[in-house]
Amino acid sequence: MTDTDRHSTHDAKSDDRNDHIKIYVDGEIVPKDEAKVSVYDSGFMLGDGMWEGMRLYDGQWAFFDEHMDRLFNSLKSVSIDLNMGPEDIRKILDDTAAANGMTGDAHCRLMITRGRKAKPFQHPALSKWGPTIVAIIEHSKPVDSLQNAGIRLATVPQVRGLPMSQDAKYNSHSKLNCVIACLQAEQAGADEGLMLDPHGFVNTTNACNFFIVRRGEVWTSTGDYCMNGVTRQKVIDLCRANDIPVREKNYSLYEAYGADEAFLTGTFGAQTPVAEIDGKPIGTGERPVMARIRALYKELVAENVAAQKAARG
Ligand SMILES: Cc1ncc(COP(=O)(O)O)c(C=O)c1O
Repeated sequence: MTDTDRHSTHDAKSDDRNDHIKIYVDGEIVPKDEAKVSVYDSGFMLGDGMWEGMRLYDGQWAFFDEHMDRLFNSLKSVSIDLNMGPEDIRKILDDTAAANGMTGDAHCRLMITRGRKAKPFQHPALSKWGPTIVAIIEHSKPVDSLQNAGIRLATVPQVRGLPMSQDAKYNSHSKLNCVIACLQAEQAGADEGLMLDPHGFVNTTNACNFFIVRRGEVWTSTGDYCMNGVTRQKVIDLCRANDIPVREKNYSLYEAYGADEAFLTGTFGAQTPVAEIDGKPIGTGERPVMARIRALYKELVAENVAAQKAARG
């Protein structure tokens, strides 16, 4: 394998406009080179913050309410008081997209940390001045090779933890568990890490949720140890609504290796096929179930965007 064969689930087509985007930082929309936060920021110092990835379609943030539910639940759980609500966040995102002339094919990373600290130590009370808010919105179209070639996964030693250590449902700035898994996968010559749960069942990947298709049934993990992905839930709901058998269950690598299809889900790439796991090709390369789900998901995004447009006049 050469470096040019390598890709990650977040590979976007190169776009020079991203060198000159404007970024929202704490109330101001500034050129990329001027977008900076303090070295005392809790996000930089400790990974103490939460983020959301969202995509812009036709001027609307797809599944905005679902993303805000997850974000505000996470912030509440770690006692970050934002002092603003989802509609204020929407305005920040809309203003930043407008400043960049974007109405679609754009991806946002919204980041909220506990904020700048008075001293370089851990205690949350040292973040005296309230949260830091940053929104980076880039022009973004996933590369075609993700759909054509698919992703190669390697099962990695790093596992998803139990919820009483660092619950995988926190979309926290600290992604060290996932970064270690990604490094291990790369060192094994793969694109992304397939992570098991503490009992050895297949759980998720370091950056996306994971599904397999066996004999016409769609399987994913119970959800106990993975990110509560918005796309994951939409895929489950779509299967249920369209008579595609779907199960959230424990299963092992044995069943993953023998699957007819496997795919990843996430806001960036929607559904991305998995070509191989641990060097074993998955199925024949035909992916009829994933293709059907992908088409249904595309329709669902369009419906959601149309509903948001109608609701906002
Ligand atoms: C570890 C992990 N899994 C899955 C996802 C996908 O979640 P979503 O479908 O909400 O983008 C993310 C994205 O934030 C993630 O970080």
